[in-house]
Amino acid sequence: MTREVSRPQRLRGTIEIPGDKSISHRAVMFNALANGSATVTNLSGGADCTSTISIFRAMGVEIERSPGAAGRGDTVHITGVGMHGLIEPNEILDAGNSGTTTRLMSGLLAGRPIMTIITGDDSIRSRPMGRVIKPLRSMGAEISARNDGELAPIVFHGGDLHGIEYDMPVASAQLKSCLLLAGLRATGNTVIKQPDVSRDHTERMLEGMGANIEVNGLSVTTSASELTAADVEVPGDVSSAAFWIVAAAAHPDADITLSNVGVNPTRTGIFEVLRAMGVDIELINQRDVAGEPVADLRVRSSQLKGVDIDGDVVPLMIDEIPVIAVAAAMAEGTTRITDAAELRVKESDRISATVAWLKSAGVEHEEAEEGLTIHGGGRIQSAVADSFDDHRIAMSLAIAGLVSEGTIGIERSESVDISYPTFWRDLDTLSGVVA
Ligand code: S3P
Repeated sequence: MTREVSRPQRLRGTIEIPGDKSISHRAVMFNALANGSATVTNLSGGADCTSTISIFRAMGVEIERSPGAAGRGDTVHITGVGMHGLIEPNEILDAGNSGTTTRLMSGLLAGRPIMTIITGDDSIRSRPMGRVIKPLRSMGAEISARNDGELAPIVFHGGDLHGIEYDMPVASAQLKSCLLLAGLRATGNTVIKQPDVSRDHTERMLEGMGANIEVNGLSVTTSASELTAADVEVPGDVSSAAFWIVAAAAHPDADITLSNVGVNPTRTGIFEVLRAMGVDIELINQRDVAGEPVADLRVRSSQLKGVDIDGDVVPLMIDEIPVIAVAAAMAEGTTRITDAAELRVKESDRISATVAWLKSAGVEHEEAEEGLTIHGGGRIQSAVADSFDDHRIAMSLAIAGLVSEGTIGIERSESVDISYPTFWRDLDTLSGVVA
């Protein structure tokens, strides 16, 4: 469905940011493998987390899902089956559009005495899976996959897992988490070394559930462990908040508050970059929820200027780069984004998808293999652009429409449901549209 967005007179109000997708996946997965039962509140309502829940149900885990309190995400009650209790599913496991599900499940399925097959939609079947399959095979897992072990569907046939020392070729939390999860059932130590810091929700939650896990700078070590079920109250997703932060910063008359946002420092590269672009992001009421730092954010209209984005901040804001492109187009001066080759292998090729809309909206830019350069100036012209079925591209296009003089038509706008099904409602609330 094509949806049009144009600039409202002002952006005002307070919205509650929905539950974090990364933390929701982990809260379900780790509790499914724990001893005991637990309740997870404010779960992400996105289709990705629903895929994770369906996969565990197919392997014998009891998960009850019910609507949460007003304005909050669903509540799920999970009865763990223990580290070795998953049963062989009688169907192919469907991860839908979710890279986190596919890669973390690979670590959980590898080396089990059952046969499992995992696959997903067109996007998932074209994303690189060799990055998890190769190290899992070197831990002793028997795995086959399409295209000589590179692409889903992936078949897990068993094997006996032993620990490895592994230097990760990319700063990917999905790869790190996959190998740590395999390490929890392996003999000996599994030592994972990251080239740069990536999100650390897995380490925090596994530690809270009693796993043997030790973080030492860029290296994480784990070994065979049992997990104890733990209730999790999922904080709001900073990657969802990012759309409104950029909207408020780039709109000429904005003053908004975003409640209950997770501000884990491995996720807040966007704050650092937007502050360098001239944005005042005020953190109010900072607190800790379920081992994760949380705050409310107040953001107002700002004079944006171009910046260079590169190096170790990139993995700390990898999902926010599509919306940073909107801020860059509205800023004075040039923004250069480099060291971001990972964007090419997300739900879509996000460099190509961003370049496509910049081109149709008349924003000067240059594409590079590992990033892009955007020459700002605030002129985003009316355009119709494709989301490429990528939720973060669809929402970035909506923000381009909210802040610029041009009207933006977003093709395949329903893709927002992957991570943020209430996105359009929140857009109306902040725009002052009464339902
Ligand atoms: C995620 C890690 C990131 C991110 C994705 C969620 C996670 O992927 O892009 O949306 O939950 O671990 P990579 O680890 O591949 O960078």
